[in-house]
Amino acid sequence: MCGIIGMIGKTSVVPSILEGLRRLEYRGYDSAGIAVLNQGTTDRRRAAGKIAKLENELRKKPLDGNTGIGHTRWATHGVPNVVNAHPHVSGAVSVVHNGIIENHKQLREELVSLGFAMETETDTEVAAHLVKYYHDQGLTPEKIMRAIIDRLSGAYALVIMIADYPGMLMAARKSSPLAIGFGNNAMFVGSDALALAPMTRRISYLEDGDWTIVNQDSLTIYNSKNVQVERPVSLTEVSGALIGKGKYRHFMDKEIHEQPEVIGYTLSAFYDPNLNCMKIPKVAFNPGLLPKLTIVAAGTSYYAGMIAKYWLEGLARLPVEVDIASEFRYRNSVLPDGGAALFISQSGESLDTLMALRHAREKGQHIISLINVDESTIARESDVVLKTLAGPEISVASTKAYTTQLAALLCLAVDWAQKRNVLDKKKAFEIMDELSRLPTALAKVLADKERWNACAHELAGARDVIYLGRGLNFPTALEGALKLKELSYIHAEGYAAGEMKHGPIALLDEGMPVVMVAPYDEWFDKTASNLKEALARGGRVVLLSDKEGIERLDDKPAWVFEMPKVNPMVSPILYALPVQLLAYYIALEKGTDVDQPRNLAKSVTVE
Ligand code: AGP
Repeated sequence: MCGIIGMIGKTSVVPSILEGLRRLEYRGYDSAGIAVLNQGTTDRRRAAGKIAKLENELRKKPLDGNTGIGHTRWATHGVPNVVNAHPHVSGAVSVVHNGIIENHKQLREELVSLGFAMETETDTEVAAHLVKYYHDQGLTPEKIMRAIIDRLSGAYALVIMIADYPGMLMAARKSSPLAIGFGNNAMFVGSDALALAPMTRRISYLEDGDWTIVNQDSLTIYNSKNVQVERPVSLTEVSGALIGKGKYRHFMDKEIHEQPEVIGYTLSAFYDPNLNCMKIPKVAFNPGLLPKLTIVAAGTSYYAGMIAKYWLEGLARLPVEVDIASEFRYRNSVLPDGGAALFISQSGESLDTLMALRHAREKGQHIISLINVDESTIARESDVVLKTLAGPEISVASTKAYTTQLAALLCLAVDWAQKRNVLDKKKAFEIMDELSRLPTALAKVLADKERWNACAHELAGARDVIYLGRGLNFPTALEGALKLKELSYIHAEGYAAGEMKHGPIALLDEGMPVVMVAPYDEWFDKTASNLKEALARGGRVVLLSDKEGIERLDDKPAWVFEMPKVNPMVSPILYALPVQLLAYYIALEKGTDVDQPRNLAKSVTVE
């Protein structure tokens, strides 16, 4: 997703806008730019690549101005180059945008017929020309905003600057987040609290459909019906400190190592070991009478939802359906009266998941979300919010957010199982006791992380890799494959181990790496026969198991990694770690951009 920052100040806004853009880097981007108003004219610098390139441009040709807008672009329409980088300019108008203007082609044709010359392939340029068109008609800023909002369809967070109006910014949000920051003698507009945190912690969030006129010392907000409204000002919890990598080479390495600690924090939020009682936030319905839970998420969060299904159905005997967020709205799913829907999202901003949430609310479902970012849009639109305490996750690849999601979801399953009178206190304690031992098991694996290097060196040369898992670890296989794909750009597929013989085994040829996620459990012997099938066809098997499983194997795979013994119930949380480490070390071997892999964004705020 793109990052937006706008500022009106008493002195040059360039340093603060740059600071805000640096905090937006974690979102993933491929170009950046800034525009400022300086004595009635618009001055702009843009660069393809990282913010360091933009800083070079600014060193060569400095900018100065007290009103300005900045942007980090994650390309949707138009290749990632300097021409397509924001801000986009049309005469006295400059615009930065996050989202997709779905009717941009029609508007482009209309504007070309009115004599506008298009310079880029972007949808955003169309918005800049549209603002200029109305500005040239003599409309006031308010009337311009009403006019363009009537014309634009799709998702957008827009910040607009017009050279004739120094000290003023105009902004609008529809499905893409936008926050207002209140500084000392300065006003800000930004994509999220993290971007504004260095400058201010006093934040207002625009609601969907809101638009606003921001001046140096005043702010007027209108809702989607053009009625003037007030939005609450809160003191954000987000720290202004630039989150650093500490002693680690990458944010991903740091965040992998934070997992024992943040899983501990998350467990402490949901469980009191002294009283052996759960501390799950109250829901407005009786879980004991809930007919069905629908879980909706994207990417890694979706795999967390798949694992939650095993726990909620197995422990709480609750019917659960898990949907991919971008598919959920299109299958007219059966959502019973009195049902509930759970939305899992690290960022709390994934548009696919947000739109699915709104669909479920329209169908009368109780809305619960499991998020890692306070004050996110999904959190604000939920009836009940469960919060993972992973802390800011900067690397695009989700690691600690995923394992804390799983810890929270198992706590939810234990809580609801007791509320549905299908799990006694003793059994609940045993499961929670297993969970509370996990940080130690994870730390043990991390203490010996170098052993993954040699295997990563071999796998880095692979063209394709297969991941296999069964039961609770089938989603772990899917997650392992996703980690490898998104970090090393190697094609990988995750399969249910038992599914291989129904076709995918045809893929196996000499030397094909097969990563098997197989802690010793009740299904181990079946998985062992899948392993033998892979070995018999020349597969280079990487086995992730424990002492008991490894000892039961007569044919030893190419690579065997012994994991600490844990209760199979909690194994997906532990076995997330080796697949993260494998992907990380293979990415190092390949020299890819570990924290901001190509084409990826930390949170996808387009559909
Ligand atoms: C995971 O490593 C990816 N970055 C991606 O699949 C991510 O999980 C997905 O985009 C969902 O993001 P969310 O949890 O913020 O909604």
